Amino acid sequence: MKNQIEEVKSKFLSEISSVEDEKQLEELRVKYLGRRGIIQSLFDKLREVPKEEKPALGKLLNELKELAQGKYNEKKLEIKGKKAKVESFVDLTIPGRLKYTGRKHPLTQTLEEIKKIFIGMGFEVASGPEIEDDYHNFEALNIPPEHPARDMQDTFFIEDKIILRTHTSPVQIRVMESKKPPVRIIAPGRVYRNEAISARSYCLFHQVEGLYVDEGVSFAELKGTLLAFAKQMFGSDVKLRFRPSFFPFTEPSAEVDVSCFICGGKGCRVCKYGGWLEILGCGMVDPNVFKFVGYDAEKYTGYAFGMGVERIAMLKYGIDDIRLFYENDFRFLDQF
Ligand code: DAH
Repeated sequence: MKNQIEEVKSKFLSEISSVEDEKQLEELRVKYLGRRGIIQSLFDKLREVPKEEKPALGKLLNELKELAQGKYNEKKLEIKGKKAKVESFVDLTIPGRLKYTGRKHPLTQTLEEIKKIFIGMGFEVASGPEIEDDYHNFEALNIPPEHPARDMQDTFFIEDKIILRTHTSPVQIRVMESKKPPVRIIAPGRVYRNEAISARSYCLFHQVEGLYVDEGVSFAELKGTLLAFAKQMFGSDVKLRFRPSFFPFTEPSAEVDVSCFICGGKGCRVCKYGGWLEILGCGMVDPNVFKFVGYDAEKYTGYAFGMGVERIAMLKYGIDDIRLFYENDFRFLDQF
């Protein structure tokens, strides 16, 4: 029986060394280690051997069983490892996936374009707080508490006299408070209004303010500067139209239209068949504003303007709903 055990052992070892996959391994397990396998049959035979040989043979058999079980476990791990390697194999012939690179938001692009044009004409970029006080947002801009112009600029109140700014015009005041003329700045930034949200208005949007104060600044310079801006922004063929208007902080004031750059002024859906598109408000700085900041209104004159960035982007790209800018819908943003 001892020889038999040895024989089984060497057969098992040689067979397991040639096993290559899970199926062969399972067959081998059933053959040797199964309940009706060879090793179990040897245990059965143990009952028939003489008593005195039993302990030694039993020991040998147990050793064989342990060895077989150990080798089986090892082989199982080895096969599993090979399989994992095959599965993680990288196929270098498959075309790679392009990594998505982000891009600038259409408002950022528009804002950067506006900034670039004015910087090119000698303007510096200034900024002010979005949480503003009543004095800078209204009073120093010649809009006293009971002035009807406040009606159009209802906003969000932090405290009684602390609000979210309704326009970028307060930056004019802050710049003039901190600096003597000449002053030539643009002030881009976010503004807030308590508006009913619709395709045309939103509770927040962006403006770019402009201010130029020096001795002898004229309305003609304002016109020339805005025309140069419009040509760079919308195309060299555009014309401007100045319509008399009213703003408390400028006198005289105007609203400026650009000839429709889609249809060339003939009339189309974008300009609602009028041929003109309103792009900004402007005027000569009201002497009252100079009083608030301590500038000598006899010595200095200046012009100011303010434009909505969303409006310009909507005109430029033919966007018909302002809310699209804030939804962060990839299908929209991906087009710019
Ligand atoms: N602040 C005005 C608004 O939000 C826009 C504006 C008009 C700004 C005329 C100006 C200006 O600087 O001169 O409606």
